[in-house]
Amino acid sequence: MNKWQRSRFQPNLPLGNNGERVTACKAHRELSKNAAKEGMVLLKNQENVLPLSKGSKVALFGKGCFDYVKGGGGSGDVTVEYIINLYDGMKILDGHVTVFEELSEFYRENVKQQYESGAVPGMTVEPEVPKALLKKACTFTDTAVITICRFSGEGWDRKSVVDTENKNLWEFEEAMTKKSGELFENGDFYLTHAEAAMVNIVKEHFSKVIVIMNVGGMVDTSWFVDDASIQSVLMAWQGGMEGGLATAELLCGIGNPSGKLADSFAKRLEDYPSTYNFHESEAYVDYTDDIYVGYRYFETIPGAADKVNYPFGFGLSYTSFNWSVTSIKEQQGMIEFLVSVTNTGDIEGKEVIQIYAGAPQGLLGKPAKSLVAFKKTRLLKPGETQLLKLEFSVEAMASYDDLGKVQRSAYVLEAGDYVFYVGTSVRQVEKVSFVYTVEQDRVTIQLSESIAPTSLKERMVSDGSFEKLPLKEANDPNACGIEKLSAEMMEGYSPAVRARESYQLWKEPFKKGIRIFDEVAEGKLTVEDFLSQMTDEEVCHLLGGQPNTGVGNTFGYGNMPEYGIPNVMTADGPAGLRIAPQCGVNTTAWPCSTLLACTWDRDIVYSVGEAGAKEVKENNIALWLAPAINIHRSPLCGRNFEYYSEDPFLTGKLAAAMVNGIQSQHIGATVKHFALNNKETNRKNSDSRVSERAAREIYLKAFEIVAKEADPWSIMTSYNIINGHRASENKELLEDILRGEWGWKGMVTTDWWTCGEHYKEVKAGNDVKMGCGYPQRLLQAKELGFISREELEICAKRILELILKID
Ligand code: BGC
Repeated sequence: MNKWQRSRFQPNLPLGNNGERVTACKAHRELSKNAAKEGMVLLKNQENVLPLSKGSKVALFGKGCFDYVKGGGGSGDVTVEYIINLYDGMKILDGHVTVFEELSEFYRENVKQQYESGAVPGMTVEPEVPKALLKKACTFTDTAVITICRFSGEGWDRKSVVDTENKNLWEFEEAMTKKSGELFENGDFYLTHAEAAMVNIVKEHFSKVIVIMNVGGMVDTSWFVDDASIQSVLMAWQGGMEGGLATAELLCGIGNPSGKLADSFAKRLEDYPSTYNFHESEAYVDYTDDIYVGYRYFETIPGAADKVNYPFGFGLSYTSFNWSVTSIKEQQGMIEFLVSVTNTGDIEGKEVIQIYAGAPQGLLGKPAKSLVAFKKTRLLKPGETQLLKLEFSVEAMASYDDLGKVQRSAYVLEAGDYVFYVGTSVRQVEKVSFVYTVEQDRVTIQLSESIAPTSLKERMVSDGSFEKLPLKEANDPNACGIEKLSAEMMEGYSPAVRARESYQLWKEPFKKGIRIFDEVAEGKLTVEDFLSQMTDEEVCHLLGGQPNTGVGNTFGYGNMPEYGIPNVMTADGPAGLRIAPQCGVNTTAWPCSTLLACTWDRDIVYSVGEAGAKEVKENNIALWLAPAINIHRSPLCGRNFEYYSEDPFLTGKLAAAMVNGIQSQHIGATVKHFALNNKETNRKNSDSRVSERAAREIYLKAFEIVAKEADPWSIMTSYNIINGHRASENKELLEDILRGEWGWKGMVTTDWWTCGEHYKEVKAGNDVKMGCGYPQRLLQAKELGFISREELEICAKRILELILKID
């Protein structure tokens, strides 16, 4: 294929063998199912109620057995041909298990009616179980399977807060926030009264109760953790289009759960330190929990350990494993563990070995444990052993000193003993005798202050108290050299279709006298020389989104046919290639990112990236707006399902695998949302006020790992403000940290329709403004001297360099 052929002509050229389409092909749907099975987490399995033996009879309770939530809403949604719910999945396994049909018929009809009345999956009411059906179900079987489901999406958080002040709230976002408030009396973290009543009735009538949690993030687990009348619980997540079948297969023992939690499950929502001030203000979020996010809080802060129901890294299996450390050594700054894992049970399965480091408290204070390495075994047969090699660098254990307690603005390894824990969750670990001793405080990297807070008053330290932070003069994120457009005028506009002069078809279609972009691709012309031919107006035009072509719906980059620059399309991610339903193209819906994180398996995540990118390519799109890697700071964030974990290391390593998979197909990944977009309410104007240490060690870390290990072609800045500066206008974030410190050379896009001013974004190194740019405002800013031609060209060059990477 010739360069840019797909972008230029949108040909109908399937990628598969014998001219078959790969989009939503059988192999991809199968991969989606298998990935789902890898990430589902068995939380509880008493009396070996699971797996269901052949010939079992079950009664399916809860509207969730039909109201299957394949993933969340917004950019994380996917247009699919079908979705397999739990009932469908059980029916596919008919020979193995028999379902009590009459009860299922009741739920099918109920959910159908709720959908017909406008409800979306997961936002439905739990109906009361008819007494007569309950009775019949009891005579049919002693085994009940309850499904609880949850839905959330972008633009709204998991609590009923309608931000009436926010002019940018889309009708849909407002409606969903209201609906959520109506449906979930105590917020959707907890069971509704109707769900709790259904659970109680089932517990009273059945001796074996299995619970399936079809959810996208952290939810209440207190109602089953110690309840002996609920024997088994599978955290099945939002498993994509095949999720119901994946769940059914695991229930029936076709496959063995091997997922491990990527988040800590606390007893109550209030037990997460981020909860108390999450909804304190629509204007800001104070990250007072600092680096003590997730298990770093629960394992470190005195008294917090008791607040956990299921710890980070936890997950059961139908088999059992033994593991032992066979050797540990340190060589040239790398610590290597060899761990031997044996399947000691009766059926095949996989285990995940996790290593946590514990640094000396020193002057900075440290989390008691931080994940530094993990590896999943292959499928081990009963009795089989595998030797795993896990390694990490000593420097990875350094902490960032933002206040100059040891050395200001540097990563330091404080003097003392560094200890290590090996095991299968953050709690099920053994401390090894090997100790790495640092004799004297050691600076591992000297940096300089960037994105420091001005208005965050205090932060948590490792004994649970708070230390005061210096307050500085705050920046006004709305200060602007030219009169700002109102928020409404920046919301939801498509790019203008730029006029092109008429030309005779049999003559050169290019602008007279210029050298075209293809010459740059052929190495005959530098990007700089190519750009120097353009007028200011043309360069400004390049710096914004371009109209959709083909099945694109999130716009493109480039699009200057008179210079030979193709219009390369973008598309969402991350749950699959998102094509608008009216195009009539169905794609594969992959399991949600939280589930993928719970696989703890780089290979399967790579495969999902690779397969997803093939679908992107086949549909003539060049850049996938995935993966999304913000940290699960609070269970309340409406987009957690799109993100991986509370832990930056797990997130970074798995997202790097995803990016490598995507880019193996020469499709550009777009890692988003950079950074600190951990709340959806008023997301375009909410200031994430965070210490520089927490920003670097927790919230930027996953991006750093991905930028360094997988070199994504593109990164998307987030909507929010960071310590007074919009992420998209944040030069310290983009130029000093991302490009300067990390050495990343790709192209930065804004998120779609930010409230940032275009010229300020360009000056900060945010190369392209999406969904549309404002060329006239850029020109105005240039005329007034707020931005120079050189600054415009720096961003234009990076956009062109990105386009040059595309096939
Ligand atoms: C979302 C992004 C998405 C973009 C394009 C925004 O609203 O925040 O994640 O990629 O829209 O659909």
